[in-house]
Amino acid sequence: TDLAHIRNFSIVAHIDHGKSTLADRLIQTTDTVAARDMKEQLLDAMDIERERGITIKANTVRIDYTAENGEQYVLNLIDTPGHVDFAYEVSRSMRAVEGSLLVVDSTQGVEAQTLANVYQAIDADHDIVPVLNKIDLPASDCERVAEQIEDVIGIDASGAIRVSAKTGEGIRETLEAIVKHLPAPKGTRDAPLKAMLVDSWYDAYLGVIVLVRIMDGVLKKGERIKMMQTGSVHHVDRIGVFRPAMQAVDELGPGEIGFLTASIKQVRDTKVGDTITHEKKGAETPLPGFKPSVPVVFCGLFPVDSAEFEDLRDAIEKLALNDASFSYEMETSAALGFGFRCGFLGLLHLEVIRDRIEREYDIDLITTAPSVIYHIYGRDGEMVELHNPADMPDPSKIDHIEEPRIKATILVPDEFLGDVLKLCQDRRGIQLDLTYAGARAMVVYDLPLNEVVFDFYDRLKSVTKGYASFDYQLTGYREDNLVKMQVLVNDEPVDALSTMVHRDRAEMRGRAMCEKLKDLIPRHMFKIPIQAAIGGKVIARETLSALRKDVTAKCYGGDATRKRKLLDKQKAGKKKMRQFGKVDIPQEAFISALKMD
Ligand code: GTP
Repeated sequence: TDLAHIRNFSIVAHIDHGKSTLADRLIQTTDTVAARDMKEQLLDAMDIERERGITIKANTVRIDYTAENGEQYVLNLIDTPGHVDFAYEVSRSMRAVEGSLLVVDSTQGVEAQTLANVYQAIDADHDIVPVLNKIDLPASDCERVAEQIEDVIGIDASGAIRVSAKTGEGIRETLEAIVKHLPAPKGTRDAPLKAMLVDSWYDAYLGVIVLVRIMDGVLKKGERIKMMQTGSVHHVDRIGVFRPAMQAVDELGPGEIGFLTASIKQVRDTKVGDTITHEKKGAETPLPGFKPSVPVVFCGLFPVDSAEFEDLRDAIEKLALNDASFSYEMETSAALGFGFRCGFLGLLHLEVIRDRIEREYDIDLITTAPSVIYHIYGRDGEMVELHNPADMPDPSKIDHIEEPRIKATILVPDEFLGDVLKLCQDRRGIQLDLTYAGARAMVVYDLPLNEVVFDFYDRLKSVTKGYASFDYQLTGYREDNLVKMQVLVNDEPVDALSTMVHRDRAEMRGRAMCEKLKDLIPRHMFKIPIQAAIGGKVIARETLSALRKDVTAKCYGGDATRKRKLLDKQKAGKKKMRQFGKVDIPQEAFISALKMD
């Protein structure tokens, strides 16, 4: 295809504003997929995504479109994830295309992720076509939302297309706007090959599949290619495009988006952002790279049943094959035995991986408190990264500790503003900005990441009844008065419950944790002290009193079935417990104890 007849674009939107539905509709209207093959939300491949309605892996589809001027166009859509954890995936996909559809739900208006994603599109120099979706709903208010797009984002929305991805209204207009308002890609056919490695994933049959955008030159099957960053050389055994099913093609030329396979075994061997060229007569200089994805949240994953450790290893290795941003290493905990310390892009990423292990591999897990990476500066001037509070060096050797900070943007209806400000203040936030967009306030806070990784989303959702939207980016490291807080159950330290906290908040946190644990740990035949301590100093204490009677004694009247049920329940409960010294601690205690209400 000649460049003038190609359009490459992505769709940016806040979660639930209808990105996937719109993509499906574009595909359907252009008969890219036979009607009988059309499934809802075609682009969301994985089950878990479908269930949660979250698009995780960036996906791609090539659409043939005959425009009103009678000419044939190739439209390449790269689907991008909408959630904050995957912001880096959004950014790299954006660099592979020239334009974006900005989809805003016309019953809701601009949200935090609309802003975050549209700024990435602007950064990538995109031309942007605003689309107001869900016009079939009575609450739709296009005038107001168009005005809001102009006020808050600062782009012209007078020509915004009014669409119902549900009924199909406005879809033709959207396709026409893509052709008319988005630019054709640039590139030179005769130049040495330069292809951008946009994404890669593991396929059980084909090995690693590499998504590429050709900038210059031509890529053909059978050629030998070189990854410019890693220097590795491969023989291309397949090239093709997604419609959205894979379809082989003879070549990919400038401006085109497609895939290659080259008997690559691991996703780790393909660096996203790398430039692919020919082994011989290749390009001299690579494309400007983008920032690699780095895990920012760490936690321990341990099998509830220690006999399942090898199964867990197997599951983790398989998942890591397909997810280069998920890292892991073996960890031993005095309390929990053998497990893995894993690194994630954010909390949602953590949740997705944990769910998949539990569901697809059927392994019950204990998840330890999520932690961020601290920079520990020793008295000798050396800095070490701390990924696990359990590895904290001797405090007498520490000069100071720095923690990661974020810039958080929250959009919230006015009536909940007070609660949001209080929440941010409680989490050691520093307010940077407060503005209004219609009846909604936009607050920007500088917050410590460690105060956000745990239950911030949950709290934000609950204080705003689900009406707030949230997005963040890492800004850097700053020194603060941080200490490691240990928890002792029956005088034994439980390493999996150790956390890093701010010194000023340690007492409050310690007290809350001890109170929670007192409720979560079942009573035993003896008295159990539960303590929080910093260094050797106890800062909070609760005592779980001893159990006096047999549990079944409650069942007066000798109802045998009820008694049996109760015992069965106890037995099932036992399985989900871990023994620490003489004390059984239930699995959920490790997460619940850390939640702050
Ligand atoms: P993520 O994949 O989570 O980023 O969400 P998304 O932006 O892709 O949203 P999705 O397409 O999953 O749509 C969210 C919900 O809105 C779904 O329940 C859709 O059925 C519904 N929806 C999408 N477009 C329309 C529309 O035009 N009208 C109405 N009434 N509902 C719509």
